[in-house]
Amino acid sequence: MKIAIASDHGGLEMKTVLIKYLESKDFVVADLGTQSNESVDYPDYADKMAAHILAKESDFGILICGTGVGISIAANRHKGIRAALIYNEFVAQMAKAHNNANVIVFGGRTMDVEDVKKYCEIFINTTFEGGRHQNRLNKLDD
Ligand code: RB5
Repeated sequence: MKIAIASDHGGLEMKTVLIKYLESKDFVVADLGTQSNESVDYPDYADKMAAHILAKESDFGILICGTGVGISIAANRHKGIRAALIYNEFVAQMAKAHNNANVIVFGGRTMDVEDVKKYCEIFINTTFEGGRHQNRLNKLDD
C-alpha cells in the first residue's frame, strides 16, 4: 500500500514522526512536503495532495496543518476528494466504513501523535461498506 503525506509548517513535526512510523510498518510513503519550518500556505499542500490522489498515485493521503481545519477545507474544494478530519477512534473507523475517505487529516498542534498513529491503523484496517453509503458518495460528485 502506498500512502501520500503532506503538511504545512504547523504539521511538519507530526509528518516526520508519521513517515517513520508508516515506513516501519512497511508502507511505501510519498512525502509531498513541506520540508522545513518556514511558514507556508496550507492550500498549496492540499492542492498537491488532491492532484496526487486524483491521479491515483497513492492509495490514500494524509494531510496535516496546525488544527487540521484549514487543510481539510482546502482539500475538500477538489471534486473527487473526500478529506476527513479524524479526532477519535470511532471517527477513524467510520471515515473508511461509511465515507470511504481518500484523505485523512490531523492537527499537528492539537493532537497527540500516538493517538494519530492509532487512527491511521484503524483507518487502514477498516473496509468500506459500500451499498447505501456508495449512493451517498455518488451524490457528492454529481
Ligand atoms: C498556520 O499557522 C495555521 O493557521 C495552519 O497550520 C492551520 O492550523 C490552519 O487551519
